Amino acid sequence: MAYWFQDPGIKSLLPLATSTSIKGLVTFFNSPALVIGANSLAEAFMPQPSIVDIFTTRCERKRAFFVTDEFSERFARKASKVLEGAGFATCIWNRALPEAPIDSVRECAAEMTRFEPDMILAVGGGSVIDTAKAAWVLYERPDVTDLGQVHPLNLLGLRKKAGLAAIPTTSGTGSECTMAAVLHDTETRRKVPIANGDLFPDIAILDPEFTMSMPPTLTAGTGLDALAHAVDGVMTPASNDITDAMGLRAIRLIFRYLPRAYRNGKDREARLRMHIASSMAGMCFGQNSCALTHGFGHAVGGLFGIHHGLSVGMFIPYAMQYYRSVTEKYLEICDVLAIPGRSPERRFASLMKRVKGLFGELDVPPSFRALGIERAAFEARMEEMVLFALEDIDTFFSPRPVTREQAERILRCAYDGRDVDF
Ligand SMILES: [Fe+2]
Repeated sequence: MAYWFQDPGIKSLLPLATSTSIKGLVTFFNSPALVIGANSLAEAFMPQPSIVDIFTTRCERKRAFFVTDEFSERFARKASKVLEGAGFATCIWNRALPEAPIDSVRECAAEMTRFEPDMILAVGGGSVIDTAKAAWVLYERPDVTDLGQVHPLNLLGLRKKAGLAAIPTTSGTGSECTMAAVLHDTETRRKVPIANGDLFPDIAILDPEFTMSMPPTLTAGTGLDALAHAVDGVMTPASNDITDAMGLRAIRLIFRYLPRAYRNGKDREARLRMHIASSMAGMCFGQNSCALTHGFGHAVGGLFGIHHGLSVGMFIPYAMQYYRSVTEKYLEICDVLAIPGRSPERRFASLMKRVKGLFGELDVPPSFRALGIERAAFEARMEEMVLFALEDIDTFFSPRPVTREQAERILRCAYDGRDVDF
């Protein structure tokens, strides 16, 4: 399969299209309509239009297709019942798989095409929402035979058949608020990010009740994913004032509420604030891109089978250390975290301590060695990791370019838990 992110022409255009150097031309900010709060699917009287009212006005044919997985199916069934009560015909497809393999996307699209919905509801974590986005493309555009070619410069023209609503059951991917989806090519064992302005969902329902049963390790991994989105989204030169507002607030919320949600999954306030933080982080990086946390996290995580959020989260300190020689934007992160210091250097050192302290509270190891990867195995995949990291589209949005040699050094620092001091 050919991937759009290997095309040198597209690669060179993307960072330019969003960089601050030409930002004066035009900037878009896209967001779904957000429904925020517990008990979002209640049928009791509400003073304002309910979710059912919103769906009813948007769907002339009233045909709702749910994309979910075995874990989140119970939430999809709950939402489906509410819509059936309003006269919708519904269909639940519950075979979404972790990492959204492309074969699974095709199976979902075939079912979707048979059912002919005018609303698609993705109920689940990031892989479920990403599966729904990619299947939606194939449903609307059967002429698109190669998902690896769906990129931000295409004009897809979706929504002629259906809209998309996302009901996340984890707080981290932010996919409910982004134009991206990360698929998995099982043949090449590569992550395949697709992105297009049409892929922003129309509606996102942020109900903390759906996240209460997440186990602690998933809470930590997904929460660190959100933190990586916010940190990179703020640090990339493609950021702007609106995305910064989203990202900086998300960072503050994550530092405050992620440890609480990790310690006590039933802490409703912490779950709600993490859900909001995750979506805000999504709106931050989703308008432009992540950077090295994801470029490197994808490479290592894909090759060693590490959870996405954990692998990208573990790169946060190393990426920030690498950015530091070209930008002082980290000082804005210090501001929102109320990190004092007489000099930028001291404040940065304190910020690194806070990040490592957060890792400690979440029982996240500080290095890939501590995670249990053998040195020989890590070194044996070095060439592939460097290649994948340098080819990853997120790497192109780094505030500081990366050479092959620097990529190797960053990877070895992250393996040993050493500071990136070059
Ligand atoms: Fe991510």
